[in-house]
Formats: sequence, structure tokens, C-alpha cells
Amino acid sequence: MLFAHHLFVCTNQKSGVGHDVAKALKHALKDQNIKNVRGADGKKLRNAVQECDCLDQCKHCKKGSGAALVVYPDGITYGDVHPKDCAAIVREHLGEGRIVASLLLSN
Ligand code: FES
Repeated sequence: MLFAHHLFVCTNQKSGVGHDVAKALKHALKDQNIKNVRGADGKKLRNAVQECDCLDQCKHCKKGSGAALVVYPDGITYGDVHPKDCAAIVREHLGEGRIVASLLLSN
């Protein structure tokens, strides 16, 4: 199955916050019922979350208390993300196509 969005979450922090963020994103996808969606052509697409090592955004992981994550295919990077931010990222970015400006690192 192809991806609608694929989120990669840095889990390279000592605090383990990246693991918590990835878990919260997966819960939000399920809670908001957008783990699987339909593309414009009607094909089934998946929104997925993947844990990964360093994304080269370390100042937003190692000095802040949150994690960095990148959303593909959009190429949007969020920083200092905490589990409490995940429902908004899923609802606004993945669900409504709006960037969560307060967490944005780049575009
Ligand atoms: S440690 Fe998270 S981006 Fe480098």
C-alpha cells in the first residue's frame, strides 16, 4: 500500500521522548480514524509513523525537551514536539492539510 504521509520521528534523545511522540502519533491516527485514507483516484493510502535515529535537527532534540520529526512527502520538519502536540499534528497536517505553524522548523 502506498503512503499518504510517512512521519519519521527522531528517537535519539536520552529522555526517550521520541518514542513517546511516535506512540502518541500512532494513537492519534487511530483515534482520528485516518490511518488509512483514499487518494484522489480512490486508491487506499496509509498514514504511517516510523521511529528513526538522528534527523540532523539535533538542537531541537538535544537542547529542547521534545523531539524532531519530518513529514513526507511534504518535506515539513517539526521540532520540540511532545506527545501533547501529536493530536494537533495528525488532525491539522494530515487530516486538514494545514501546517502546524507553532512547531514548524522548515518548509
Ligand atoms: S538527535 Fe534528534 S535530530 Fe539529531
